[in-house]
Amino acid sequence: MSQEKNWTQLWLKYEPKKEQGNASFFTGLVWKGFDHENAIIKNAQKELINGIQGMLGIALACKEEDKATLIIEKSEDAQIKEDGYLLKEVDGTLTLSARDEKGALYGVFHILRVVAMEKSLKGMDALVNPDNPLRMYNHWDNMDGSIERGYSGNSFFFVNNEVVVDERTVDYARFVASIGINGVVINNVNVKNCATWLITDRYFEKVAQMAEIFAGYGIKFFLSLNYAATIELGGLDSADPLDEGVIAWWKEKMAEVFAKIPNLGGFLVKADSEGRPGPFTYGRTQADGANMLADIVKPYGGIIIWRCFVYNCTQDWRDYKTDRARAGYDSFIQMDGDYHENVILQIKNGPMDFQIREPISPLLGGLKKTNQMLEVQLAQEYTGHQIDVCYLIPMFKEVLDFHTYCKKGADTVADVISGRTLGNKNAGIAAVINTGNDANWTGNDLAAANFYGFGRLGFTTSLSAEEILEEWIRLSISTDENVIDTIKGIMLPSRATYEKYTSPLGIGWMVTPNIHYGCSVDGYEYSCWGTYHRADHLGIGVDRTDKGTGYAQQYYEPNASMYNNMETCPEELLLFFHHVPYTYVLKTGKTLIQHIYDTHFEGVEEVEQMIAAWDSLEGKISADTFNLVKVRFGRQLYNAKEWRDQVNSYFFRKSGIADEKGRAIY
Ligand code: GCU
Repeated sequence: MSQEKNWTQLWLKYEPKKEQGNASFFTGLVWKGFDHENAIIKNAQKELINGIQGMLGIALACKEEDKATLIIEKSEDAQIKEDGYLLKEVDGTLTLSARDEKGALYGVFHILRVVAMEKSLKGMDALVNPDNPLRMYNHWDNMDGSIERGYSGNSFFFVNNEVVVDERTVDYARFVASIGINGVVINNVNVKNCATWLITDRYFEKVAQMAEIFAGYGIKFFLSLNYAATIELGGLDSADPLDEGVIAWWKEKMAEVFAKIPNLGGFLVKADSEGRPGPFTYGRTQADGANMLADIVKPYGGIIIWRCFVYNCTQDWRDYKTDRARAGYDSFIQMDGDYHENVILQIKNGPMDFQIREPISPLLGGLKKTNQMLEVQLAQEYTGHQIDVCYLIPMFKEVLDFHTYCKKGADTVADVISGRTLGNKNAGIAAVINTGNDANWTGNDLAAANFYGFGRLGFTTSLSAEEILEEWIRLSISTDENVIDTIKGIMLPSRATYEKYTSPLGIGWMVTPNIHYGCSVDGYEYSCWGTYHRADHLGIGVDRTDKGTGYAQQYYEPNASMYNNMETCPEELLLFFHHVPYTYVLKTGKTLIQHIYDTHFEGVEEVEQMIAAWDSLEGKISADTFNLVKVRFGRQLYNAKEWRDQVNSYFFRKSGIADEKGRAIY
């Protein structure tokens, strides 16, 4: 931790490094073609100077061209795209070429990363263009300072209903820019109370200041919007998107907002969802609502990101036809092609809600004429609250690699959200994140791997989960090979471990209602959120086949048939798609009930192994990190045991079938 700040520098520590022959590149710097007064260029220059001073002890100075060892130049080279860069070393001179300022900034962070990882810049030849046009973080911060699903302290954007702009804002912008993030939404999608007023002069001054800081790091500023602001702010009696008065109010409001916040990229909207208002109230479609706002923000270059998390959250348990999993698709698919060019539909990776295992939402790629953005969650709402270790990048890789069969040769989710499938620019990837004012930003130090990893993956989708993890360990914890291997051994399988001790084979939930940490097998079974597991004394699972809710039919072939058929359905999703008897024999030769018992015992054993591995790091890594994570591992083990015992006991009592291995089941 730096002396004057009470927060860490995460992967931008700039501590002294072993010389890897890199010093010679920092004897003379020359900038060519970029405007030195540009805020992004100024920040890139500052970062480079500080980083090189900190890591190599060299005072990097600008020199005449013939003494240059590092050249940063503006380039028209056609292979370098927007935000991209080319980094090339020839005869001891390193040249960073970029089309625009953001590319130069990202290239500078690349150089600093190589030095920080103690790798060599010699022989460098890398063309790096971002895969996704929009790469965003969505914060769910409330203006009273709390964070919805926050497990790392309170908000550093808001305190006591005021907007906070300070040094931490700058550091946050540096961190996210260094991993390629180019858009940030600062307030919760559930826009209530003071947050509705963010688009008024009560807050413009501070909001504009924050937006300007972000602009200096190439980050567009976004706000979540209250769909019913016409009523709550405007005093109208309607939010009907086709009402002339409503349209006129928004026109005037948006003219004001874009004038007051010059770096505003647009808005994120959660409508008709979990009690939030929306166009359905007025008998209008989601497209009516999204298009109305989009047309109004269009003259200012604004976009409307419209969430597809729309479902009926009051489902009777006797109703076997209504299916929450179907709802997103059912609400949005018919209007495919009707959404205007500056609307992007933001779709959660799964059809339910960020569970440890879900199928990929059939809306992704299901829509063939609509801009789409993928939404994942780094806030570990259902994956251990940043107490339990759960490295999520392997899960996001699975999502991106999924074949939707929407278009031959360009049908993966990665294709769809990058714009490769539709040839569109308004597309991308967003993550719900809950960085807070804890010193380490993420509650558990190890959860910062998700914070880092999402940005890197969003920029370069082809990076593997392991490469990203290794980078993060080298930058944030240690460059010692043994430490790297040990932490990789803990984190790479951590998602699989979490899955083992929690809900089995894609069924999800079984969490304590509302807080979503800890086991409660029937917690949501007797409430109306539509998340039933439907366990009885014979079996468990939801029939989503053509004989059940029909959800499997929302996919293109061959996915629809694959999921519909119990024999071809991937087993990790078996209970999501099928109601299965406990005696059903899986491909491993084990019965379903034995699989449940075995995975739950294994999950706890794996946590014990993680802890032993972590203990071996004592004295080899920072004591602060070692101790903080050790305490959390203690809580994770307790949690894992509780899950194991509750789940095993529940299914033993339901089924009456004993564990073949005779282990303790309560
Ligand atoms: C989940 C989460 C809520 C959140 C919602 C959303 O249901 O529990 O806190 O508001 O997702 O994504 O809008």
